Amino acid sequence: MIKIAILGYGTIGSGVVEVLNTNRESIAGRAGDEIEVKYILDLRDFPGDPMEDKVVHDYGIIVNDPEIQVVVEAMGGVEPAYTFVKKALLAGKSVTTSNKALVAKHGAELIAIAKEQSINFMFEASVGGGIPIIRPLNSSLTADEIQEITGILNGTTNYMLSKMTFEGLEFDDVLKDAQSRGYAEADPTADVEGYDACRKIAILTSLVCGQQVDFEEIYTEGITKITAVDICYAKAMGKVVKLLATSRKTEEGYCAMVAPFLLSQEHPLYNVNDVFNAIFVHGNVLGDAMFYGSGAGKLPTASAVVADIVDIAKHLHKNILISWSSRKMDLVDWKKAKSRFFVRAKEEKENIQKIFGSVEFIEAEGISGETGFLTEVLTEEAFEQKASGLKNILQRIRVV
Ligand code: HSE
Repeated sequence: MIKIAILGYGTIGSGVVEVLNTNRESIAGRAGDEIEVKYILDLRDFPGDPMEDKVVHDYGIIVNDPEIQVVVEAMGGVEPAYTFVKKALLAGKSVTTSNKALVAKHGAELIAIAKEQSINFMFEASVGGGIPIIRPLNSSLTADEIQEITGILNGTTNYMLSKMTFEGLEFDDVLKDAQSRGYAEADPTADVEGYDACRKIAILTSLVCGQQVDFEEIYTEGITKITAVDICYAKAMGKVVKLLATSRKTEEGYCAMVAPFLLSQEHPLYNVNDVFNAIFVHGNVLGDAMFYGSGAGKLPTASAVVADIVDIAKHLHKNILISWSSRKMDLVDWKKAKSRFFVRAKEEKENIQKIFGSVEFIEAEGISGETGFLTEVLTEEAFEQKASGLKNILQRIRVV
């Protein structure tokens, strides 16, 4: 019997209990032993809940119990999750977490402690919800130099943009809907401002380059400024707006960014809708690969956490090497990144052409009093420099 403790009995913590109960036998078969939840740490009590008698309020009970071999961190946020996880690892207990904020900030250190202790720190659920991506990067795609990872890594915003596109709904209404479905973070600012996707692409880039990528250095723009008018123009161009998190290996180094992009039908991420996430990976010998699936929500995320528990059970006292050192990877200045830009401005076409040269003007049904246009491929800094010559820019969205 492998005894585990769950920290946090919210959406993910209760999902882990549900998954363990639903697939008890097959999970035991795959883990080689039964998994039993001995404790649940939460500030609250849960009267009437079947797990009521497992709830404790003192972390000391868990960390000092030699029977506990695995700690599941499902609290979210950096503290006290970091302190609890570090204590668990130092006490010889393996940890799995769904917490991208924790992994992005302290992943390298926690991985190193697990290695020293011959145990494991796993975080499959921290990126892409139920989609396997951490394990594939760490064990399946190891023959490659990964040259690009581009993903739709936030279920909430993908759900919102899909609803805005297909049902013409307003931003605030779709956000409430996403929250009620358990997709959004406790503070949905992390979703809609792109911070959640930023931490996820920082984790993936760290795994790919084997060094610490600081999420603070990744240029991040959310979807709060995307309007129904932008969606109309996107439709007129046969494109969709998606929040992409992307990182590329260039000759100068790694370049990463999170921002809304306009995607054409040919793009592999064009058809990724609703709460689904997808991660496109390009390796120098593999070529292209795509990972697609449920990117947020209780059971998909819990499925990835429980898969980590099974992997930990199969490797008790044996560390699975994860190549992610604390040595910092300096990113290439994002202003050197190149793309086409879609722009909406209250400007005369002649003036736009004078500044941007050759552009493609876009007409959208029912929109007047402004001009929409697509630039040629420009660096970010060249775009900014040209755009400063226009007085009334209403919007600019990058195009891939
Ligand atoms: N709020 C996150 C999302 C949860 O919407 O993708 C999964 O990390």
